[in-house]
Amino acid sequence: MTSKKVLLKENIEWVGYVDDRKVPFHRLILEKGTTYNSYLLKTEKPTIIDTVDIQFGGQYIENLKAHIDLKEIQYIVINHVEPDHAGALPALVSQAPNAIIVTTELGAEELKEMFKLHNKEFLIIRDGDTLDIGGKTLKFFETPFLHTEETMITYSIEDKILFPCDQFSSHIATYELFDDLAEEDFSQDFEVYYKLIMHPHRPYVQDMVKKIKNLDIEIIAPSHGFILRKDAKKYIDLYDRMSQPTEESKKALILFSTMTGNTTKVAKYIGEGLEEKQIEHKIMNVSNTDKQEVLEEILLADAIFFGSSTRYADMVGNMEGILKELKAMDLSDKLGIAFGSYGWSGEAIEVIQDYLKDINIKAVGSSYIIKTTGMDHIEFPIRVKFRPKEIEQEKIIEAAKVIGDLLIA
Ligand code: FEO
Repeated sequence: MTSKKVLLKENIEWVGYVDDRKVPFHRLILEKGTTYNSYLLKTEKPTIIDTVDIQFGGQYIENLKAHIDLKEIQYIVINHVEPDHAGALPALVSQAPNAIIVTTELGAEELKEMFKLHNKEFLIIRDGDTLDIGGKTLKFFETPFLHTEETMITYSIEDKILFPCDQFSSHIATYELFDDLAEEDFSQDFEVYYKLIMHPHRPYVQDMVKKIKNLDIEIIAPSHGFILRKDAKKYIDLYDRMSQPTEESKKALILFSTMTGNTTKVAKYIGEGLEEKQIEHKIMNVSNTDKQEVLEEILLADAIFFGSSTRYADMVGNMEGILKELKAMDLSDKLGIAFGSYGWSGEAIEVIQDYLKDINIKAVGSSYIIKTTGMDHIEFPIRVKFRPKEIEQEKIIEAAKVIGDLLIA
């Protein structure tokens, strides 16, 4: 932390914090530490873009006072609500009473709940919105799931600077701050960061690249590690390249047995979701397909959905006969997902899930999805009461798309 001016361009200052500890982060230890880059745009309507980690909030505020009278701050842009960037927001708004918080709709909901900011003024951003901050214009792009759902990025049009928060970051505690001043090559740190944080959301990286590829970007100013001003385009091209779909196509198999046809409908909606992600898939009714044929298809698939109606608190048809065979097979590189429609309690779906946990397969439950993608709004196993109504159809398709994303990540 320094009160010395670090300028990206005239009137745009870095006001972040260098954390040179071994930092615990996302179940990892960041051996090289990290930085929390916050930026001050000293325009007629002074604006802060992102803050710093919650534990350095006090020092951040004291340092910021050396750069600006906090009462002058008009806007605080929060691109991403995780506490390593939004953590100092409550301390900041308590001393910057005139500031409006600028973020996405979901970002605002989360910030209000996390930091009890219900009484503060928010400006809700939609994709492509602009904001005049007095001498500069900010343009915002929603970039959901990079890496959490509420995320957006900010582009300063006149300065040609992209502020993408976590995106284009690297975990290095650098005091040089700019890539052209780096004392050693950090390309590996940049790629490792991408692979760990962004690659699991690869289709969304492609969406983001499409949004920014026609912007005139001279500087990428992320919120961890080096500010990239030597060759910004190189890093955008790298994200584009690393997030391309691979040649090898993944396959899914949807197996079901049904009593009234409602589980068949769930299977079809799963197929629609996979279709949207261009995942090759087959749907098979195990009650009228030869068991050996089903087992051969299971070996060829990368994700297998197992669905059944519930009768007398158990599965119907031949589903259990198939699941019993799997105990002797190595399916450790495959995803297994339970689903079904039911009338009362839907025990069959839970019995399938118990089987999946007991065999050598990656059994997908809500916990697995949260831990691998950070998404907490999609529930697994896929459970539907009676016929899938419109809202449930959407949820089934969404769940299948999440599995599709996991397959192509
Ligand atoms: Fe750097 Fe997702 O927080």
